[in-house]
Amino acid sequence: MSMIPDFHVFVCITNRPPQAGGSCGNIGSGKVMEQMQFAIMENDLMGRVRMNGTTCLGPCDDGVNMVVYPEGTFYAHVTPEDVPEIVKEHFIGGKAVQRLVYKGA
Ligand code: FES
Repeated sequence: MSMIPDFHVFVCITNRPPQAGGSCGNIGSGKVMEQMQFAIMENDLMGRVRMNGTTCLGPCDDGVNMVVYPEGTFYAHVTPEDVPEIVKEHFIGGKAVQRLVYKGA
């Protein structure tokens, strides 16, 4: 298995108290990561797709946020239901899921 993945996914797992503002952890980034791990295994992408949790990526009110390298695709408002599409279209098909790409504030 190669040590260098084709795609490296960083999912924001910041968890702030609700009174301190929105955060991806509070709205379910754990579930997104769980689904992603499942989809990576189910599609036999271990080693080709690596995933890590990360701290705040910036637009907290647009979470769950994630960024995919090497190209730096930034996905916002990601739900667990979106994960199979990201895996199929992006990690297998090589095309970013445009409807989830962050459009900016
Ligand atoms: S808390 Fe996730 S982007 Fe800031």
